[in-house]
Parts: sequence; structure tokens; C-alpha cells
Amino acid sequence: MIAPETIREVTDRIDIVDVVGEFVKLRRRGSNYLGLCPFHGEKTPSFNVSQSKGIFKCFGCGKSGNAISFVMEHEKYSYVEAIKWLAKRYGIAVEETAMSEEAREHMQAAESLYIVNGFAQKFFHEQLLDTEEGQHIALSYLKERGFNLPIIEKFGLGYNPDLPDSLSQAAVKNQYSRDVLLKSGLVRSYQDRLQDNYRGRIIFPIHNNSGKVIGFGARIIGKKDKAPKYINTPENEIYVKSRILYGSYFARHTIDKENECLLVEGYTDVLGLAQAGIENVVASGGTSLTIDQLRLIKKYTQNLTIIYDGDNAGIKAALRGLDMALEEGLNVRLVLIPDGEDPDSYVRQLGAEQFKEFIQKNKKDFILFQLEILLRDAGSDITKKNDAVNRIAESLSKISKAEDFTKQQEYIRQCSGILKIDEHGLTTLVNKYKRDGLSKLEKKQHQDQRYQQPGDQANSLPNKADPSAPDDIDAPAAAAELAMLDTGSIQERNLLRILLEFGLKPWKENWTIADYIFEEIQGFPFENEQNEKLLEYYRRAYNAGENPDTASFQYIEDKSMQDLVVTITLTPYEISRRWDEKIPGKKSDSIVNRDLSKQDALNSVIYFKLRKIKQMLEITQKELMECTDFEEQLKQLSIQKHLKTEEKT
Ligand code: UTP
Ligand code: MN
Repeated sequence: MIAPETIREVTDRIDIVDVVGEFVKLRRRGSNYLGLCPFHGEKTPSFNVSQSKGIFKCFGCGKSGNAISFVMEHEKYSYVEAIKWLAKRYGIAVEETAMSEEAREHMQAAESLYIVNGFAQKFFHEQLLDTEEGQHIALSYLKERGFNLPIIEKFGLGYNPDLPDSLSQAAVKNQYSRDVLLKSGLVRSYQDRLQDNYRGRIIFPIHNNSGKVIGFGARIIGKKDKAPKYINTPENEIYVKSRILYGSYFARHTIDKENECLLVEGYTDVLGLAQAGIENVVASGGTSLTIDQLRLIKKYTQNLTIIYDGDNAGIKAALRGLDMALEEGLNVRLVLIPDGEDPDSYVRQLGAEQFKEFIQKNKKDFILFQLEILLRDAGSDITKKNDAVNRIAESLSKISKAEDFTKQQEYIRQCSGILKIDEHGLTTLVNKYKRDGLSKLEKKQHQDQRYQQPGDQANSLPNKADPSAPDDIDAPAAAAELAMLDTGSIQERNLLRILLEFGLKPWKENWTIADYIFEEIQGFPFENEQNEKLLEYYRRAYNAGENPDTASFQYIEDKSMQDLVVTITLTPYEISRRWDEKIPGKKSDSIVNRDLSKQDALNSVIYFKLRKIKQMLEITQKELMECTDFEEQLKQLSIQKHLKTEEKT
């Protein structure tokens, strides 16, 4: 958590022309500044910055905001990350409130790893370019494969000499700590001495999205039977494989502009395509995609095109985990490269233009592609065909957001055509999977709400290694965001449950928990009609002094309300013990007896309101994008600012 004083200091010091000017070449024009919009490709400038008002607006694509939102959008930072970046820029010390011991240690470990990696990267790079061994053995190999100097420079490639300890010695001489060196995976300890781990290998540094080196891939030169082709950095504070997409630091702005991300398997594929001028490319490292990687992509684009080798393993790897991509609302397409080639060799063979054309022509929609593969495998086997139908229906059920509804319909139409089955039948099947999935989700979210208290998150941010590492996805926040999609109704029900269970208990003097909840949710109407109806029933009974609770609702006439009360209150809740564990000085034997109703009410209200605020933020953001009147924009911005503050509290 950043201290409010720091935020104030930063916002006081910001000069928007200065901040935007870091990324965009600006020229003064009248009282404003003008430049080429960094958010969409344009040749004549329509990107306006007002220094006095502290805001920007592009009259081409409509993007607008202030210095903070500019940094957030341009660098895909969260609010906190943007503040930290700005603070660094203006030399303001960031004061953190309540950073746990664990988080501090984590941050220090991460910091020293970045430093050691930076040192090693420079060392390797010099070895590659400036030594005879490097030039003869490694540089010549890279050149032979067709990589040119600019691309080698851009990606910062290097070479670890084929000696026992050339890096180790240099590192020790520069007084890097042995522990950190070992943790970085650059060296190992052999008979109490340090030895290089990547001897005689070409080094691919791996950057995070702020350009810091978080690890390395070390490729053997030529083919040697026994040794592994690549040695990779072991997992540590900053190298978390499931969150890494190789090349994303160099590709992110192009991905943004082209609104498409190409995904390949290998480091060399990224290099090969980049050299051919195709820069919106990242590599997964040959394993199937993780949810964190998908979310990283989604920060920049909804359109993911996977380019894999035509061999079977490649296809299987590509298909695995792609339902997750559908859930994330990504449009996934697949292109298979002809057998025996990989994207790097193929782009060399075809040339950039023809390669692009090939991708364009051969892009297959993931769902239809999957169906094709399944049907081919099934042949005339009826059972297998049945499995295929189910598999596809399950995939389709993952497309569940309202805005993707037409997309889903269209798929159902196409798939039932290909499968030669009734469209209506497939719809029913898809809906069944959707229901199954939803009830699973609801169960999970009930648990999450129990176990993930807001306080927890504040204390346990150990994953945030480096404030300036934006690709470090904040898992709890991301999960919460995902939950926002469907939790509306759940959160409303949760509040209803608390009303029914503890509404009459005291909140404070002369105040019941019901009073508290009514006050807090004022102005935030329930979205679900049934929930709203029950709330009104409760409110009426409460105001009439009828002391409503679960039991009394079993006697009201409205059958649907009776049922709803049962559904809501019969969920098997386990009160989490962790709440008590969080309270310092409490003895564990007090757990059982402590009344948790207030805590429960407080948390439920917080979750409910947080979601509402997020929704309102989205609306103001939309309005901000749409309105062209400067005054109106200022108004929206101030509303937005207010909401952001609310969100933070
Ligand atoms: P490839 O074998 O396709 O490697 O593995 P490549 O990078 O394209 O190399 P070239 O073209 O043969 O020179 C794809 C990716 O899988 C991971 C690496 O990330 C590699 O880039 N990999 C492969 C490993 O991590 N370890 C291995 O031993 C092999
Ligand atoms: Mn390859």
C-alpha cells in the first residue's frame, strides 16, 4: 500500500507534458501540445495535451485521461504501479504503509536478483561481441542461422564462455553475493567453488515488461546428444515461469497497435519474426498456456493467434488449456506451419510478406479447428463422435459473457452444421454445461468470499516483487476481477443471508446490523429482480417491527420468496477460522465463541460496494471516451477521481 501522502506528493508534482513527452514527441500548438497518438497508428497528429488542465485527448481514437491514466494505459500499469513509476521519475520517495516483513524480504531478494541478472546480461553480451571465442563460436553460429546484428543487440543476446567459471569469477570480483548468484541459477557450487551453469551456450535474456532481466534461456550451440538443448533459470522471486512470455517487453506496443498477439513456441521464432519486421510476437516456451499468460496478453489485445509447428505434439500443446482463453474472452486462432518447419525457418523461406499472407490465409478459428481434429480422430466411431459433441459443447459453454452471446450463437450454428446435428439440441447441451459450470463457480466464490478477506490481501502481497514490474500479475486482484463478472447476484444474496441470519443483532449502540446494511447500500440497487423483491419484503417487515428472520419467512405467501430464502440460508457455510487468526493477541480458544456476524456483514458490504464502484468506474470511463466537450470531460474526470478514491478505501 502506498501512503496517501506519497500519492498527494506525486499528483502535485506531475506535469502532464513532461510525462507524456517521455513517450510521445509533442509540439506546442496554441495553448496545447500536439503529437502522434501512441494508442493507435496515425500519420497526422491528433493527440492533444493540455498542460494547464493536466489532461490529454486523442481526437482520432478518442482515448483521454490524465497523466496517471496515461501511464497506466501506455505501460499497462495498475494504479499503484503508475504512481510508483511517477514517483521514481520525480525522485519522490515512496512511503509504503503496512508492508509485512515477508513482503519486504521478498522485495529485497527480488531487487538483488535484478541487479545480478543485469550484470550477467552485460557480461554475456560483451563475451559474445567482443571476445574471440564469442565471435568464433557463438556469433558465427547466430549469423549462420541468419540473425543480424541489430536483432542480436535488440534482444541483448550473449555468450557464456566454455570455461569453468568465467562469469563466476567476474561476479565474485564485483562482490556479488554468493547466495544471490546461486539463486539466480547462473552458477552452481562445486566443491565449495562457484562454477558457471551455462558454459559454452548462447544466452537469451528474458525481460519483464519494464525491461529488467528476470532470467535466461541458455541454448547449446549445434547439437550434442546428451546435454539438454536449453537450460533455463530456476524458479525464484522474479522468475515465475507461468507468468512469462518471452519477448513481451519488445512486442507489447506493437501488439497493442495491431490489436493482435502472435504466439510461437521458441525464442528463436520470436527473433526470426522480429527480424522480418513482424514484431507483435511472444513465445510461450513450448508449454501450454497458463491463465496468467493469457491475462498478460489480454492486457494488450483480445486477439490471439497461435503459430505452431504442424507436428502432433505442437497441436496437442496448443489445444491444452485453451478453454481458459475462451473464458477470458479471447478470440483464439491457430495456424499450423508445414511439417518440418518452424516459424523462424518458415519466415526465412517465404519472406516477410508471404509469411504474413500465409498466416492470414491459414488462420483457423480455435473452436472449429478443435472440432476438425476431434472428428478426424473419431472417424466412424459413434462413441467417439459423441465425445466430440460433448467436448465442443463444453468449450462453447465457456463463452459466457453477455457481449459474447452472439459469438456463441454463431458457433453453435456452424458446429451443428459440421457435426450434422440439430442446432437446438446443441444449444440445450451447451446450456447444460453452462449451468454445471456456474454452480461450480458459485460454490467456489462462496468459498473465496469466506477465505479471502480484504485485510488478507493488504498483508500478503509477497508476489509483488518489484513495484515497477507490471507483468507481475496480482493474482488475488485478477481473481477478484474475474469474479466481478458473475458475482453480482451472489453478493446480493450474501447480503440477504446476513440480513436473515444476523440482521437483528446489534451493530453498535441502538443500531442493528440491518440498519447498517440499509444505510450502506443506499443508492446501490440490487440487479437481480428476485433478490430485490426479497430485500423489499425484508425491509417492509423490519420497518413494521416484525423482527424478520429465516424462520418467519417460511410463513409468507409468496412461494418463490420462501424458496429463495431457503436457497440463500441453507448454503453450508463454514465460518473461516482465519479471521480470528488475523487478530493479534487473541487466544485460539476464543475462536469458537467469538461472534463473527459483524465481521461477516462488514465484509459482505465491502464486496458488494466494491463491485458497484467498479461498474460505475467503467461507465464513467466510457462516457469520458465518448464525450467531446472539454468541460464535460473535466467533470467526468473528477467523478472518476472520486470513485477511484472510494475504490481504494
Ligand atoms: P525448440 O526446440 O523449438 O527451440 O523449443 P527453439 O528456441 O525454437 O530453437 P531452435 O529453433 O531449434 O534453435 C521451443 C522452446 O521450448 C523451450 C525453449 O523455450 C524453446 O525456445 N525448451 C526447449 C526448453 O525450455 N528446453 C529444451 O530443452 C527445449
Ligand atoms: Mn525452433
